[in-house]
Amino acid sequence: MGAPTSLPAWAALARHRETLAGVHMRDLFAGDGERFRRLSLARGDFLLDYSKNRITAETMRLLANLAREAGVQRRRDAMFAGECINVSENRAVLHVALRAPADRPIRLDGTDVMGEVESVRQRMRRFADMVRAGKRTGATGRKFADVVNIGIGGSDLGPAMVCEALAPFRAGGPNPRFVSNIDGAALRDVFAACRPETSLFIVASKTFTTLETLTNAHSARRWVADALGEEAAGKHFVALSTNLDAVRAFGIDPDEMFPFWDWVGGRYSLWSAIGLSIAIAVGADNFAALLDGARDMDDHFREAPLEANMPAILGMLSVWYGNFWDAHTHAVLPYDQRLARFAAFLQQMEMESNGKSVTEGGAPVAWQTGPVLFGEPGTNGQHAFYQLIHQGTRLIPADFIGAARSQSPLGKHHQLLAANLFAQTEALMRGKTAAEVRAELAARGMSGAALEAAVPHRVFSGSRPSNTILYRALDPFTLGRLIALYEHKTFVEGTIWGIDSFDQWGVELGKQLAGTIAAELDGSKPPAAHDSSTRGLIDRFREWR
Ligand code: F6P
Repeated sequence: MGAPTSLPAWAALARHRETLAGVHMRDLFAGDGERFRRLSLARGDFLLDYSKNRITAETMRLLANLAREAGVQRRRDAMFAGECINVSENRAVLHVALRAPADRPIRLDGTDVMGEVESVRQRMRRFADMVRAGKRTGATGRKFADVVNIGIGGSDLGPAMVCEALAPFRAGGPNPRFVSNIDGAALRDVFAACRPETSLFIVASKTFTTLETLTNAHSARRWVADALGEEAAGKHFVALSTNLDAVRAFGIDPDEMFPFWDWVGGRYSLWSAIGLSIAIAVGADNFAALLDGARDMDDHFREAPLEANMPAILGMLSVWYGNFWDAHTHAVLPYDQRLARFAAFLQQMEMESNGKSVTEGGAPVAWQTGPVLFGEPGTNGQHAFYQLIHQGTRLIPADFIGAARSQSPLGKHHQLLAANLFAQTEALMRGKTAAEVRAELAARGMSGAALEAAVPHRVFSGSRPSNTILYRALDPFTLGRLIALYEHKTFVEGTIWGIDSFDQWGVELGKQLAGTIAAELDGSKPPAAHDSSTRGLIDRFREWR
């Protein structure tokens, strides 16, 4: 594909954008009593309301044209067909196979991958059942009380986020714990809270070469071996990886390795063996329901026309704001404490996927690509950074996410939580005019110069965009839908931008330099040439040790 900026729909959108420059969302709502009905869509008990955006029906028509011209449907079909769409790594992108039905063949280079996928699923199920039932124990025969996933990036964020999100479904299972940071404090906390004889360590690494994960895994193994002996340690470790040789070299029996494949990207891997900690924590049936939910969103993404396709709509709106309204950030605001790690998870998915500045073909892009994504659960965010979203100078499109029913009901808490969610999207959309502020202040007895001085600070411009995703309850199926929605949204954005959303070369340089510096810090290599800042910091670090 050529530059998206040279597509006819891009030019049409740029012209259309001008016609919306002075249009306030309040007026769009006032002028169309059916706006919510027209600009929202549901799939069962999962609703996307995108009516509170700076859009009209014409905007959505043009955005769908852009997606079509950029080849979103063609590339989507290529992904599901196992074609090599990750061009810079020369790989297919088939995380969708991980949640596909076993009897629907998905071919890669002519071979159906579903047999292998199903066989790993069955092994995971058996293993999870046995750990939960206390039939697969540690060396002393005691049931595992803690399951510690050691991994980082995609080998951590997905399982950690899901285990927290599905906490109400964890009854009867061991405690899931996650160690990712190479900072020894993370592992020390686990040592303090757990006992070697009742701890199972899952070493999760696609490559099994990641410094943080291997360093943590070696230290964890030492901890177990010191307490229970070298022989016994083997009963406390399993591996999730694509790299059998490295797993063996680490000292984990290949029979204790759950494999996956190079066509599963790290940040799309929670559906694979990387999800073992989830299956153990919530049980294999709930893990299966998570996959079913994702598959349901896959089916929707494949089948629905772009104009009525949730991931396509979210992706197209992201392009709309990033490329036509100069938005640089995107907020994800779950009104659900269980989704406390959702924004962190999405940061990797979106920013590692779409933080690119060359096209698939390697040419520099001359258009904005992935936004900075951030978020915190509501209502916490309201008392932290929402001020800037409401009254700052930047346009920050936001996604609000919430459930009709709480999985942890307590008095009126959930109603108040939901009231805040709806209020925030309304406030962002409506704003508050100077006239409204004046009337409010006057009603409170203010007048004259004091009133006038107070007005500008209390005005809200409004017309600030948001999407709302509302579902009945956060159960495994719904969570599967939600995650897959964002996976495919990321795909749609990347396709329109013409970039490879499935590589991550940008993390390599820091890794390379850290290797050199680590050797300098432990004195095994002489000081290397550095800029004066890096040199100064290294010297001061050594001096202060
Ligand atoms: O951050 C780079 C990255 O390669 C991610 O894409 C990946 O999720 C993470 O490191 C961990 O990699 P691995 O699973 O191979 O240890």
